Amino acid sequence: MTSYKELGLVNTKELFKKAVSGGYAIPAYNFNNMEQMQSIIQACVETKSPVILQVSSGARKYANQNILKNMARGAVEYAHELGYDIPIVLHLDHGDSFELCKDCIETGFSSVMIDGSHLSYDENVALTKKVCELAHSQKDYVTVEGELGVLAGVEDDVSSEHSHYTQPSEVVDFVGKTKVDSLAISIGTSHGRAKFKPEQCTRDANGILIPPPLRFDILEEVEKQIPGFPIVLHGSSSVPIEYVHMIEKYGGKLTDSVGIPEEQLRKAAKSAVCKINIDSDGRLAMTALIRKILVEKPDEFDPRKILGPARDELKKLYAHKNQNVLGSAGRA
Ligand code: G3H
Ligand code: 13P
Ligand code: ZN
Repeated sequence: MTSYKELGLVNTKELFKKAVSGGYAIPAYNFNNMEQMQSIIQACVETKSPVILQVSSGARKYANQNILKNMARGAVEYAHELGYDIPIVLHLDHGDSFELCKDCIETGFSSVMIDGSHLSYDENVALTKKVCELAHSQKDYVTVEGELGVLAGVEDDVSSEHSHYTQPSEVVDFVGKTKVDSLAISIGTSHGRAKFKPEQCTRDANGILIPPPLRFDILEEVEKQIPGFPIVLHGSSSVPIEYVHMIEKYGGKLTDSVGIPEEQLRKAAKSAVCKINIDSDGRLAMTALIRKILVEKPDEFDPRKILGPARDELKKLYAHKNQNVLGSAGRA
């Protein structure tokens, strides 16, 4: 049994309270390896931003949970060494069972998501409540994120053929019965790099896909039902077209890529949305730089010379998001 406090981590409670009242969102960046973790911490220390390091079950399988947990401990020490102690949360992203959440709660995670959004409403309530009871009864309170509504999109372990928006009429009952600390909602975002079908979009003069707007009306209705309650937005990568073009220039193929425009995320961050999840943009930045180096320097075979520039690009991307999109810069 390891408590997150022993690792120097914090839960989301205070961070979300400040973010909701301050009109900004905490970045929740997924990580699977050392370079991603280093770039996240470098960017968040440089911009003085709190941060949520997210681990999916896919990341656990890829990198091993103990290694990721100890990387989070290392992240705390790394931030200190870089000169600024930012608050760092270690969060389970899309936990799909009580057992997985329990394992994370007992081994140093300060926050878990139990994603019962694919279950019936009553089953989602029962499962989420069970995880909350365990998480909240720990010596050091572990925070829990629940989800209502289903996001579209397909990623390794996160898939949904059909999305449906969150029903604002359900949120009071859900939050009251489960006692979750934050609620992920579905207002049109989805996972991955192709968030909308081309037929849902328009095109600009250059043929670039322009997505339909998010359903801010649903968000407003949710906020009316549970004023000031912390809301989470998944699937919030912007899918920068520069990275898509760079990947394609160097041999990749990413047809019909489209993300959530930064302007809409800025607007969401000013509301009760206090956690914004971003994974795909980091994948795109890393892949773009790796492809570039491999093509431009065919004789390079030192992984550090390939992954190093990718890490630098990731850091720039995360710093930009903290400063110009989420508003979390200067809040640590
Ligand atoms: O929401 C899902 C995250 O992007 C994690 O994806 O399951 O492929 O690690 P993953
Ligand atoms: P993206 O695929 O838009 O980066 O979303 C990540 C996410 O929601 C992780 O839970
Ligand atoms: Zn997600």
